[in-house]
Amino acid sequence: MDGSFSPISSSNWRTILCVVMAVITVVNIVIPQVEAQGRAFFVFGDSLVDNGNNDYLLTTARADSPPYGIDYPTHRPTGRFSNGLNIPDIISEQLGTEPTLPYLSPELTGERLLVGANFASAGVGILNDTGIQFLNIIRIFKQLEYFEQYQTRVSGLIGAEQTQTLVNQALVLITLGGNDFVNNYYLIPFSARSRQFSLPDYVRYLVSEYRKVLARLYELGARRVLVTSTGPMGCVPAELAQRSRTGECVVELQRAAALFNPQVADMINELNSEIGSNVFVAANAFQMNMDFISNPQAYGFVTSKVACCGQGPYNGLGLCTVISNLCPDRDLYAFWDAFHPSEKANRIIVQRILTGSAEYMNPMNLSTIMALDSRT
Ligand SMILES: *[C@@H]1O[C@H](CO)[C@@H](O)[C@H](O)[C@H]1NC(C)=O
Ligand SMILES: *[C@@H]1O[C@H](CO)[C@@H](O)[C@H](O)[C@H]1NC(C)=O
Repeated sequence: MDGSFSPISSSNWRTILCVVMAVITVVNIVIPQVEAQGRAFFVFGDSLVDNGNNDYLLTTARADSPPYGIDYPTHRPTGRFSNGLNIPDIISEQLGTEPTLPYLSPELTGERLLVGANFASAGVGILNDTGIQFLNIIRIFKQLEYFEQYQTRVSGLIGAEQTQTLVNQALVLITLGGNDFVNNYYLIPFSARSRQFSLPDYVRYLVSEYRKVLARLYELGARRVLVTSTGPMGCVPAELAQRSRTGECVVELQRAAALFNPQVADMINELNSEIGSNVFVAANAFQMNMDFISNPQAYGFVTSKVACCGQGPYNGLGLCTVISNLCPDRDLYAFWDAFHPSEKANRIIVQRILTGSAEYMNPMNLSTIMALDSRT
Protein backbone atom coordinates (compact mmCIF):
# COMPACT_ATOMS: atom_id res chain seq x y z
CA MET A 1 0.00 0.00 0.00
CA ASP A 2 2.89 2.37 0.72
CA GLY A 3 3.26 5.06 -1.89
CA SER A 4 -0.01 4.21 -3.60
CA PHE A 5 -1.80 7.30 -2.30
CA SER A 6 -1.86 10.41 -4.42
CA PRO A 7 -2.96 13.85 -3.32
CA ILE A 8 -6.73 14.23 -3.56
CA SER A 9 -8.14 17.46 -4.89
CA SER A 10 -10.98 18.94 -2.88
CA SER A 11 -13.40 18.48 -5.79
CA ASN A 12 -12.76 14.76 -5.63
CA TRP A 13 -13.79 14.57 -1.99
CA ARG A 14 -17.46 14.70 -2.88
CA THR A 15 -17.08 11.74 -5.25
CA ILE A 16 -15.19 9.81 -2.58
CA LEU A 17 -17.86 10.60 -0.01
CA CYS A 18 -20.54 9.31 -2.38
CA VAL A 19 -18.59 6.11 -2.96
CA VAL A 20 -18.12 5.65 0.77
CA MET A 21 -21.85 6.15 1.36
CA ALA A 22 -22.61 3.69 -1.41
CA VAL A 23 -20.24 1.13 0.11
CA ILE A 24 -21.85 1.57 3.52
CA THR A 25 -25.27 1.02 1.96
CA VAL A 26 -24.07 -2.06 0.09
CA VAL A 27 -22.51 -3.48 3.25
CA ASN A 28 -25.78 -2.96 5.08
CA ILE A 29 -27.57 -4.95 2.45
CA VAL A 30 -24.87 -7.57 2.00
CA ILE A 31 -24.56 -8.72 5.61
CA PRO A 32 -28.04 -10.21 5.92
CA GLN A 33 -27.63 -11.68 2.42
CA VAL A 34 -24.45 -13.50 3.39
CA GLU A 35 -26.49 -15.21 6.06
CA ALA A 36 -29.23 -16.14 3.67
CA GLN A 37 -26.80 -17.39 1.02
CA GLY A 38 -25.25 -20.34 2.78
CA ARG A 39 -25.49 -21.90 6.17
CA ALA A 40 -22.49 -21.51 8.42
CA PHE A 41 -20.27 -24.53 9.01
CA PHE A 42 -18.29 -25.26 12.17
CA VAL A 43 -15.68 -27.97 12.49
CA PHE A 44 -14.22 -29.54 15.63
CA GLY A 45 -11.81 -32.40 16.16
CA ASP A 46 -8.46 -33.79 15.06
CA SER A 47 -6.12 -33.99 12.05
CA LEU A 48 -8.75 -35.59 9.83
CA VAL A 49 -10.58 -32.24 9.82
CA ASP A 50 -7.93 -29.63 10.82
CA ASN A 51 -7.69 -26.94 8.12
CA GLY A 52 -4.44 -25.49 9.45
CA ASN A 53 -4.82 -24.36 13.06
CA ASN A 54 -1.70 -26.23 14.11
CA ASP A 55 0.42 -24.13 11.75
CA TYR A 56 -0.08 -21.32 14.29
CA LEU A 57 1.05 -23.42 17.25
CA LEU A 58 4.29 -24.79 18.67
CA THR A 59 3.62 -28.42 17.89
CA THR A 60 5.14 -31.26 15.96
CA ALA A 61 1.69 -32.26 14.64
CA ARG A 62 1.61 -30.11 11.55
CA ALA A 63 1.34 -30.55 7.82
CA ASP A 64 3.15 -27.38 6.87
CA SER A 65 5.76 -28.59 4.42
CA PRO A 66 5.73 -30.22 0.98
CA PRO A 67 4.48 -32.53 -0.35
CA TYR A 68 1.37 -31.82 1.81
CA GLY A 69 -0.99 -29.77 -0.33
CA ILE A 70 0.56 -30.93 -3.60
CA ASP A 71 -2.91 -31.24 -5.19
CA TYR A 72 -4.48 -28.30 -3.33
CA PRO A 73 -5.53 -25.47 -5.68
CA THR A 74 -2.42 -23.51 -4.61
CA HIS A 75 -0.23 -26.66 -4.71
CA ARG A 76 1.21 -25.55 -1.38
CA PRO A 77 0.93 -26.95 2.14
CA THR A 78 -1.94 -25.44 4.12
CA GLY A 79 -1.82 -27.46 7.33
CA ARG A 80 -4.34 -29.96 5.98
CA PHE A 81 -3.29 -33.59 6.38
CA SER A 82 -4.11 -34.35 2.78
CA ASN A 83 -2.62 -34.12 -0.69
CA GLY A 84 -5.50 -31.77 -1.52
CA LEU A 85 -8.89 -31.18 0.05
CA ASN A 86 -10.01 -32.78 3.29
CA ILE A 87 -13.46 -33.86 4.44
CA PRO A 88 -14.70 -30.44 5.69
CA ASP A 89 -13.51 -28.78 2.47
CA ILE A 90 -15.58 -31.18 0.39
CA ILE A 91 -18.60 -30.68 2.66
CA SER A 92 -18.19 -26.90 2.21
CA GLU A 93 -18.12 -27.49 -1.54
CA GLN A 94 -21.46 -29.29 -1.22
CA LEU A 95 -22.92 -26.49 0.91
CA GLY A 96 -21.80 -24.05 -1.77
CA THR A 97 -19.61 -22.09 0.62
CA GLU A 98 -15.93 -21.24 0.91
CA PRO A 99 -13.83 -23.72 2.90
CA THR A 100 -13.81 -22.93 6.62
CA LEU A 101 -10.79 -20.94 7.73
CA PRO A 102 -8.78 -22.13 10.73
CA TYR A 103 -9.96 -20.24 13.80
CA LEU A 104 -6.40 -19.08 14.48
CA SER A 105 -5.98 -17.63 10.99
CA PRO A 106 -5.54 -13.84 11.00
CA GLU A 107 -7.67 -13.83 7.83
CA LEU A 108 -10.73 -14.97 9.77
CA THR A 109 -12.26 -11.53 10.36
CA GLY A 110 -15.30 -9.48 9.33
CA GLU A 111 -17.76 -11.10 6.96
CA ARG A 112 -15.61 -14.20 6.59
CA LEU A 113 -16.63 -15.09 10.14
CA LEU A 114 -20.18 -15.61 8.88
CA VAL A 115 -19.09 -18.58 6.74
CA GLY A 116 -18.18 -20.42 9.94
CA ALA A 117 -14.86 -21.53 11.38
CA ASN A 118 -12.66 -24.53 11.81
CA PHE A 119 -11.51 -25.17 15.40
CA ALA A 120 -9.94 -28.58 14.81
CA SER A 121 -6.38 -29.33 15.86
CA ALA A 122 -4.28 -32.29 14.75
CA GLY A 123 -3.35 -34.66 17.56
CA VAL A 124 -6.25 -34.04 19.92
CA GLY A 125 -8.62 -36.60 21.34
CA ILE A 126 -11.59 -36.79 23.66
CA LEU A 127 -9.26 -36.93 26.66
CA ASN A 128 -7.04 -34.09 27.78
CA ASP A 129 -4.04 -36.40 28.04
CA THR A 130 -4.33 -37.60 24.44
CA GLY A 131 -1.65 -36.09 22.20
CA ILE A 132 0.49 -34.67 25.00
CA GLN A 133 3.53 -35.73 22.94
CA PHE A 134 2.56 -33.07 20.37
CA LEU A 135 2.95 -30.33 23.02
CA ASN A 136 0.85 -27.30 22.14
CA ILE A 137 -2.42 -28.38 20.50
CA ILE A 138 -6.00 -27.13 20.94
CA ARG A 139 -7.68 -29.69 23.18
CA ILE A 140 -11.38 -30.22 22.64
CA PHE A 141 -12.58 -28.11 25.58
CA LYS A 142 -10.37 -25.27 24.35
CA GLN A 143 -11.93 -25.66 20.88
CA LEU A 144 -15.33 -25.22 22.54
CA GLU A 145 -14.07 -22.14 24.42
CA TYR A 146 -12.94 -20.68 21.10
CA PHE A 147 -16.44 -21.38 19.73
CA GLU A 148 -17.84 -19.24 22.54
CA GLN A 149 -15.30 -16.52 21.80
CA TYR A 150 -16.24 -16.73 18.12
CA GLN A 151 -19.88 -16.09 18.99
CA THR A 152 -18.95 -13.01 21.00
CA ARG A 153 -16.97 -11.69 18.04
CA VAL A 154 -19.80 -12.34 15.59
CA SER A 155 -22.27 -10.68 17.97
CA GLY A 156 -20.20 -7.50 17.63
CA LEU A 157 -20.75 -7.76 13.89
CA ILE A 158 -24.41 -8.73 13.45
CA GLY A 159 -25.86 -8.63 16.97
CA ALA A 160 -26.54 -11.35 19.52
CA GLU A 161 -29.89 -12.44 18.12
CA GLN A 162 -28.65 -12.93 14.54
CA THR A 163 -25.59 -14.72 15.89
CA GLN A 164 -27.81 -17.14 17.77
CA THR A 165 -29.75 -17.79 14.56
CA LEU A 166 -26.56 -18.27 12.57
CA VAL A 167 -25.25 -20.84 15.07
CA ASN A 168 -28.59 -22.65 15.44
CA GLN A 169 -28.93 -22.97 11.66
CA ALA A 170 -25.33 -24.02 11.09
CA LEU A 171 -24.00 -27.41 10.18
CA VAL A 172 -21.43 -28.79 12.63
CA LEU A 173 -18.93 -31.59 12.11
CA ILE A 174 -16.99 -33.27 14.91
CA THR A 175 -14.33 -35.94 14.40
CA LEU A 176 -12.70 -37.32 17.54
CA GLY A 177 -11.66 -40.59 19.12
CA GLY A 178 -8.99 -42.11 16.86
CA ASN A 179 -6.15 -40.42 18.72
CA ASP A 180 -7.44 -41.66 22.07
CA PHE A 181 -6.43 -45.08 20.80
CA VAL A 182 -3.47 -44.66 18.45
CA ASN A 183 -1.89 -41.71 20.25
CA ASN A 184 -2.76 -42.70 23.79
CA TYR A 185 -3.93 -46.20 24.82
CA TYR A 186 -1.91 -47.99 22.11
CA LEU A 187 0.87 -45.42 21.67
CA ILE A 188 3.41 -47.44 23.62
CA PRO A 189 3.21 -50.87 25.24
CA PHE A 190 2.01 -50.57 28.85
CA SER A 191 0.83 -46.98 28.35
CA ALA A 192 -0.58 -45.30 31.47
CA ARG A 193 -4.14 -45.61 30.19
CA SER A 194 -3.76 -49.27 29.25
CA ARG A 195 -2.44 -50.02 32.74
CA GLN A 196 -5.34 -48.08 34.26
CA PHE A 197 -8.16 -49.52 32.11
CA SER A 198 -9.04 -52.72 30.30
CA LEU A 199 -10.08 -51.92 26.72
CA PRO A 200 -13.86 -52.24 27.41
CA ASP A 201 -13.56 -50.00 30.49
CA TYR A 202 -11.48 -47.45 28.57
CA VAL A 203 -14.09 -47.37 25.81
CA ARG A 204 -16.88 -46.78 28.33
CA TYR A 205 -14.87 -43.96 29.89
CA LEU A 206 -14.19 -42.36 26.48
CA VAL A 207 -17.86 -42.50 25.52
CA SER A 208 -18.95 -40.91 28.80
CA GLU A 209 -16.42 -38.09 28.28
CA TYR A 210 -17.47 -37.69 24.65
CA ARG A 211 -21.06 -37.28 25.78
CA LYS A 212 -20.00 -34.23 27.83
CA VAL A 213 -18.33 -32.70 24.77
CA LEU A 214 -21.45 -33.16 22.64
CA ALA A 215 -23.73 -31.87 25.41
CA ARG A 216 -21.56 -28.74 25.63
CA LEU A 217 -21.80 -28.24 21.85
CA TYR A 218 -25.58 -28.34 22.20
CA GLU A 219 -25.44 -25.82 25.05
CA LEU A 220 -23.39 -23.55 22.82
CA GLY A 221 -26.17 -23.56 20.23
CA ALA A 222 -25.27 -26.35 17.80
CA ARG A 223 -28.44 -27.96 16.38
CA ARG A 224 -27.18 -30.10 13.48
CA VAL A 225 -24.06 -32.03 14.34
CA LEU A 226 -22.45 -34.74 12.25
CA VAL A 227 -20.48 -37.03 14.56
CA THR A 228 -18.08 -39.34 12.77
CA SER A 229 -17.12 -42.72 14.17
CA THR A 230 -13.46 -43.68 14.15
CA GLY A 231 -12.15 -45.20 10.96
CA PRO A 232 -10.71 -48.71 10.78
CA MET A 233 -7.65 -47.78 12.84
CA GLY A 234 -6.06 -51.21 12.45
CA CYS A 235 -5.93 -50.84 8.66
CA VAL A 236 -3.97 -47.59 8.33
CA PRO A 237 -0.48 -47.98 6.78
CA ALA A 238 1.16 -46.84 10.06
CA GLU A 239 -0.39 -49.74 11.97
CA LEU A 240 0.26 -52.25 9.16
CA ALA A 241 3.92 -51.18 9.25
CA GLN A 242 4.25 -51.50 13.03
CA ARG A 243 2.02 -54.39 13.98
CA SER A 244 0.90 -56.46 11.00
CA ARG A 245 2.97 -59.38 9.73
CA THR A 246 0.82 -60.33 6.81
CA GLY A 247 -0.71 -56.99 5.80
CA GLU A 248 -4.01 -57.87 7.44
CA CYS A 249 -5.67 -55.14 9.52
CA VAL A 250 -4.42 -55.20 13.13
CA VAL A 251 -6.96 -57.12 15.22
CA GLU A 252 -6.54 -55.22 18.49
CA LEU A 253 -7.21 -51.78 16.96
CA GLN A 254 -10.11 -53.13 14.92
CA ARG A 255 -11.55 -54.51 18.12
CA ALA A 256 -11.19 -51.10 19.77
CA ALA A 257 -13.13 -49.50 16.91
CA ALA A 258 -15.75 -52.26 17.02
CA LEU A 259 -16.31 -51.56 20.74
CA PHE A 260 -16.16 -47.77 20.60
CA ASN A 261 -18.23 -46.93 17.51
CA PRO A 262 -21.52 -48.68 18.40
CA GLN A 263 -21.40 -47.18 21.90
CA VAL A 264 -20.98 -43.70 20.43
CA ALA A 265 -23.95 -44.38 18.15
CA ASP A 266 -26.04 -45.48 21.16
CA MET A 267 -24.97 -42.42 23.16
CA ILE A 268 -26.02 -40.20 20.24
CA ASN A 269 -29.45 -41.84 20.16
CA GLU A 270 -29.80 -41.24 23.89
CA LEU A 271 -28.84 -37.59 23.58
CA ASN A 272 -31.31 -37.09 20.74
CA SER A 273 -34.16 -38.64 22.68
CA GLU A 274 -33.33 -36.55 25.76
CA ILE A 275 -33.34 -33.41 23.62
CA GLY A 276 -36.39 -34.60 21.72
CA SER A 277 -34.86 -33.78 18.34
CA ASN A 278 -32.36 -35.28 15.90
CA VAL A 279 -29.57 -32.84 16.70
CA PHE A 280 -26.78 -35.41 16.45
CA VAL A 281 -26.22 -37.59 13.41
CA ALA A 282 -23.91 -40.59 13.53
CA ALA A 283 -21.68 -40.93 10.47
CA ASN A 284 -20.29 -44.43 10.19
CA ALA A 285 -16.80 -43.51 9.01
CA PHE A 286 -15.64 -47.02 9.88
CA GLN A 287 -17.84 -48.56 7.19
CA MET A 288 -17.27 -45.71 4.72
CA ASN A 289 -13.50 -46.37 4.89
CA MET A 290 -13.87 -50.15 5.08
CA ASP A 291 -15.69 -50.21 1.73
CA PHE A 292 -12.67 -49.01 -0.24
CA ILE A 293 -10.13 -50.63 2.07
CA SER A 294 -11.60 -54.08 1.49
CA ASN A 295 -12.11 -53.57 -2.23
CA PRO A 296 -9.77 -50.80 -3.40
CA GLN A 297 -10.00 -51.71 -7.11
CA ALA A 298 -13.76 -51.21 -7.13
CA TYR A 299 -13.14 -47.58 -6.15
CA GLY A 300 -10.32 -46.95 -8.63
CA PHE A 301 -7.43 -47.41 -6.21
CA VAL A 302 -4.39 -49.59 -6.92
CA THR A 303 -3.91 -50.23 -3.20
CA SER A 304 -5.39 -49.43 0.20
CA LYS A 305 -2.42 -50.72 2.18
CA VAL A 306 0.46 -48.60 0.90
CA ALA A 307 0.43 -44.87 1.61
CA CYS A 308 1.24 -42.53 -1.26
CA CYS A 309 3.75 -40.58 0.80
CA GLY A 310 6.07 -42.11 3.39
CA GLN A 311 8.80 -44.70 3.86
CA GLY A 312 9.33 -48.18 5.23
CA PRO A 313 6.83 -51.04 4.92
CA TYR A 314 3.57 -49.79 3.37
CA ASN A 315 5.17 -46.31 3.42
CA GLY A 316 3.81 -46.42 6.96
CA LEU A 317 6.82 -45.41 9.09
CA GLY A 318 7.65 -41.86 10.15
CA LEU A 319 6.25 -38.71 8.63
CA CYS A 320 5.49 -37.72 5.07
CA THR A 321 8.26 -35.26 4.17
CA VAL A 322 10.00 -33.85 1.14
CA ILE A 323 12.44 -36.81 1.15
CA SER A 324 9.74 -39.52 1.44
CA ASN A 325 8.60 -41.81 -1.36
CA LEU A 326 5.83 -40.04 -3.23
CA CYS A 327 3.42 -41.67 -5.67
CA PRO A 328 2.97 -39.90 -9.00
CA ASP A 329 -0.85 -40.20 -9.08
CA ARG A 330 -2.47 -39.54 -5.70
CA ASP A 331 -5.91 -40.51 -6.99
CA LEU A 332 -4.77 -44.13 -7.19
CA TYR A 333 -4.10 -44.34 -3.45
CA ALA A 334 -6.66 -44.65 -0.66
CA PHE A 335 -4.12 -43.36 1.88
CA TRP A 336 -2.18 -40.17 1.34
CA ASP A 337 0.12 -40.62 4.34
CA ALA A 338 0.46 -43.22 7.09
CA PHE A 339 -2.81 -42.15 8.79
CA HIS A 340 -4.86 -39.93 6.48
CA PRO A 341 -6.98 -40.65 3.40
CA SER A 342 -6.19 -39.07 0.03
CA GLU A 343 -8.49 -36.38 -1.37
CA LYS A 344 -9.97 -39.04 -3.65
CA ALA A 345 -10.85 -41.19 -0.62
CA ASN A 346 -12.21 -38.13 1.21
CA ARG A 347 -14.55 -37.56 -1.75
CA ILE A 348 -15.89 -41.10 -1.46
CA ILE A 349 -16.46 -40.56 2.26
CA VAL A 350 -18.32 -37.27 1.76
CA GLN A 351 -20.47 -38.87 -0.97
CA ARG A 352 -21.62 -41.40 1.64
CA ILE A 353 -22.22 -38.65 4.19
CA LEU A 354 -24.42 -36.92 1.64
CA THR A 355 -26.43 -39.78 0.25
CA GLY A 356 -25.64 -42.83 2.37
CA SER A 357 -28.32 -45.19 3.61
CA ALA A 358 -29.05 -45.67 7.31
CA GLU A 359 -26.12 -48.11 7.53
CA TYR A 360 -23.83 -45.11 6.96
CA MET A 361 -25.82 -42.16 8.27
CA ASN A 362 -28.13 -42.42 11.25
CA PRO A 363 -30.83 -41.17 11.62
CA MET A 364 -30.35 -39.41 8.28
CA ASN A 365 -27.89 -38.38 5.59
CA LEU A 366 -26.75 -34.86 4.81
CA SER A 367 -28.99 -34.54 1.72
CA THR A 368 -32.00 -35.20 3.92
CA ILE A 369 -30.74 -32.70 6.51
CA MET A 370 -30.30 -30.02 3.86
CA ALA A 371 -33.73 -30.69 2.42
CA LEU A 372 -35.37 -30.61 5.86
CA ASP A 373 -33.60 -27.47 7.03
CA SER A 374 -34.24 -25.53 3.84
CA ARG A 375 -37.96 -25.93 4.52
CA THR A 376 -37.87 -24.52 8.04
C1 LIG B 1 -10.26 -31.59 30.59
O1 LIG B 1 -9.96 -30.22 30.76
C2 LIG B 1 -11.08 -29.37 30.94
C3 LIG B 1 -10.62 -27.97 31.12
O2 LIG B 1 -9.70 -27.61 30.16
C4 LIG B 1 -11.90 -29.80 32.13
O3 LIG B 1 -13.07 -29.03 32.21
C5 LIG B 1 -12.28 -31.27 31.99
O4 LIG B 1 -12.94 -31.70 33.15
C6 LIG B 1 -11.03 -32.11 31.78
N1 LIG B 1 -11.44 -33.49 31.57
C7 LIG B 1 -11.01 -34.49 32.33
C8 LIG B 1 -11.57 -35.83 32.03
O5 LIG B 1 -10.22 -34.32 33.24
C1 LIG C 1 -30.64 -40.37 2.15
O1 LIG C 1 -31.29 -41.06 3.17
C2 LIG C 1 -32.65 -41.38 2.85
C3 LIG C 1 -33.25 -42.00 4.10
O2 LIG C 1 -32.42 -43.01 4.61
C4 LIG C 1 -32.71 -42.29 1.68
O3 LIG C 1 -34.03 -42.61 1.38
C5 LIG C 1 -32.09 -41.61 0.52
O4 LIG C 1 -32.06 -42.47 -0.57
C6 LIG C 1 -30.68 -41.20 0.89
N1 LIG C 1 -30.10 -40.49 -0.21
C7 LIG C 1 -30.48 -39.28 -0.61
C8 LIG C 1 -29.79 -38.75 -1.83
O5 LIG C 1 -31.31 -38.63 -0.04
